[in-house]
Amino acid sequence: MDKKNTTLGEFIIENQSSFQYSSGELSKLINAIRLAAKVVNHEVNKAGLIDILGAAGDTNIQGEDQQKLDVLANDRFIQTLKNREIVCGIASEEEDHFISVNSHDEKHQNKYVVLIDPLDGSSNIDVNVSVGTIFSIYRRVTPIGSPVTLEDFLQPGINQVAAGYIIYGTSTMLVYTTGDGVNGFTLNPAIGTFYLSHPRMEFPETGKIYSVNEGNYIHFPQGVKDYIKYCQREEDDRPYTSRYIGSLVSDFHRNMIKGGIYIYPKSSTASEGKLRLLYECNPMAFLAEQARGKASDGFRRIMEIQPTELHQRIPFFCGSRKMVEKAEEFMAAQK
Ligand code: AHG
Ligand code: MN
Ligand code: MN
Ligand code: MN
Repeated sequence: MDKKNTTLGEFIIENQSSFQYSSGELSKLINAIRLAAKVVNHEVNKAGLIDILGAAGDTNIQGEDQQKLDVLANDRFIQTLKNREIVCGIASEEEDHFISVNSHDEKHQNKYVVLIDPLDGSSNIDVNVSVGTIFSIYRRVTPIGSPVTLEDFLQPGINQVAAGYIIYGTSTMLVYTTGDGVNGFTLNPAIGTFYLSHPRMEFPETGKIYSVNEGNYIHFPQGVKDYIKYCQREEDDRPYTSRYIGSLVSDFHRNMIKGGIYIYPKSSTASEGKLRLLYECNPMAFLAEQARGKASDGFRRIMEIQPTELHQRIPFFCGSRKMVEKAEEFMAAQK
């Protein structure tokens, strides 16, 4: 742990003046996310004891069966952000449309929008494997004083002001960036406080782990197949180790600490892959770049892609810089 035992609350205050637009609003917003994270952590931890495991009975706009914890995490984050009146809009994986949040005087004075994947790794909930929450924060582009529009959410990732994730794992951690490196905070559950445990997190330049759902191999583009074969070949420091949890947050977190690459490519059954650009890939790409890693769709930098839809999907290659560059070489060779 950090020598000073810095708490997340202290860290937010200490770093407030370094924010590009420092009015305290972003600090309040990150504080609200910290609070919602603790609430959701509490729910996730006791999920096996009470009746919140399993399917909720509805399907979301992605065509996925919503799990009870998907719905619960979504409600907790949205309620916390709404109650505190610190954002002007919210978009979520579990909501068909974006939500316009009015400040109490209906003057729409807040300037930030938040995009969230409230519960990442739904398929792992029932089997007690790590899940997460992903968030992405932008300044609105339409004028303050009017309701938010879709334009405020369809911004390229390079416009992000902050992004992060919470991992509900063996420990619960909140990892985030405001564009000045990536810092990780671990929750001490006994007192409900996050402490700075992982200052200045960085991806190793290269690594030995590749993370991809190889069950879909037959459907992958030739470039991805070739890269997987490269990872498996006995040569230099290979074969690499295959590790795939099926929770983006957990796979990313492990690869950032140990060195590795995560790939969710397009396939013959999913023409744009599975992961969502706005609330999964962009925040993870911002974190990756801030941690000296790299994120692309196999060809282009993720953060420069102009989104066209709220729930847009995109192929995702993310992790240690040299590994992503190598995968891109294989993709380019088959273009
Ligand atoms: P979500 O649970 O938020 O819908 O996201 C699931 C995503 C991501 O977490 C994970 O990496 C990926 O789906 C796993 O998909 P496959 O089961 O197709 O490998
Ligand atoms: Mn989902
Ligand atoms: Mn997800
Ligand atoms: Mn989700």
